Amino acid sequence: MPLAAPLIETRLGGLAPHRQGKVRDIFDLDDSLLMVATDRISAFDYVLGSGIPDKGRVLTQLSAFWFERTAGIVPNHLITTNVHEYPAAMRPFVDVLAGRSMLVRKTNPVPIECVARGYLSGSGWKEYQASGSVCGVALPAGLRESDRLPAPIFTPATKASTGHDVNVSEAEAAQLVGEPRIRRLRELTLELYAFGAAHAESCGIILADTKFEFGLTDQGEIILIDEVLTPDSSRYWPRDEYAPGGPQPSFDKQYVRDYLEQIRWNKQPPVPSLPDDVVVRTRQKYVEAYRRLTGKELA
Ligand SMILES: Nc1ncnc2c1ncn2[C@@H]1O[C@H](COP(=O)(O)OP(=O)(O)OP(=O)(O)O)[C@@H](O)[C@H]1O
Ligand SMILES: [Mg+2]
Repeated sequence: MPLAAPLIETRLGGLAPHRQGKVRDIFDLDDSLLMVATDRISAFDYVLGSGIPDKGRVLTQLSAFWFERTAGIVPNHLITTNVHEYPAAMRPFVDVLAGRSMLVRKTNPVPIECVARGYLSGSGWKEYQASGSVCGVALPAGLRESDRLPAPIFTPATKASTGHDVNVSEAEAAQLVGEPRIRRLRELTLELYAFGAAHAESCGIILADTKFEFGLTDQGEIILIDEVLTPDSSRYWPRDEYAPGGPQPSFDKQYVRDYLEQIRWNKQPPVPSLPDDVVVRTRQKYVEAYRRLTGKELA
């Protein structure tokens, strides 16, 4: 069956997105925000030349799944994913928006990326090799890359406006948002991680680490915002291939990474496009992640 064309850019008549991330287009609807997950895919910090059909649907529907299930831990920004409940001005665009967008409460985002790590990977592994600790959290000696940590840790990062996020200690994060708030964010982050990791584990998937964002409402309440426990905000590893002592295959982007290594892309523009078989297999992985984690078919 031929694949649907990927959605690369969201066009809502003459309305321009108020903000474009690597993957999501965000529209400011005054009282609320409309977040549209496109099919753009990034690797090594660049958006690639090809989209992955249905990827945006997976991100949106998986976030919605987790928002619903974690609402008992912390309230979140989700208002609705039902396009018929969107403001009337969005009515002409329901076909584009259905399944890949959500209407959310506008908040004042907390300027800290709240990362939880249960395994040693990525920037955590790099820091550990250099200092034996991650974000000021001392870890036992002798851990290998991708090893499971004795207990999950909170490793905040600041949102750099350009390029990479910067890992910071909890004390540094406290200087930005205050001591009581950072303690609360750590608590919520670790509780959400534990919930997500336990569920993923029951689906044969390791949640190695993940990033949450929080926002403040006008009433000063902390709520969970952005996307939640998606492949784009998390490191998911297939449990049956887990072999610590080196990097693990990524659940979703492995074919993309393998291809980019194979063509020896120098990780500088111009960005490559992906051959059809890499697109098809990557799409299958995103859809499989959705199916395994939710037990449902993608809508
Ligand atoms: N409910 C909300 N209220 C206010 N801002 C929000 C809300 N939910 C998400 N955001 C913000 O919207 C932005 C989402 O953008 P997006 O993730 O697409 O791009 P980005 O974070 O700038 O870049 P990247 O592609 O690297 O993730 C983030 O800055 C996030 O903090
Ligand atoms: Mg983001």
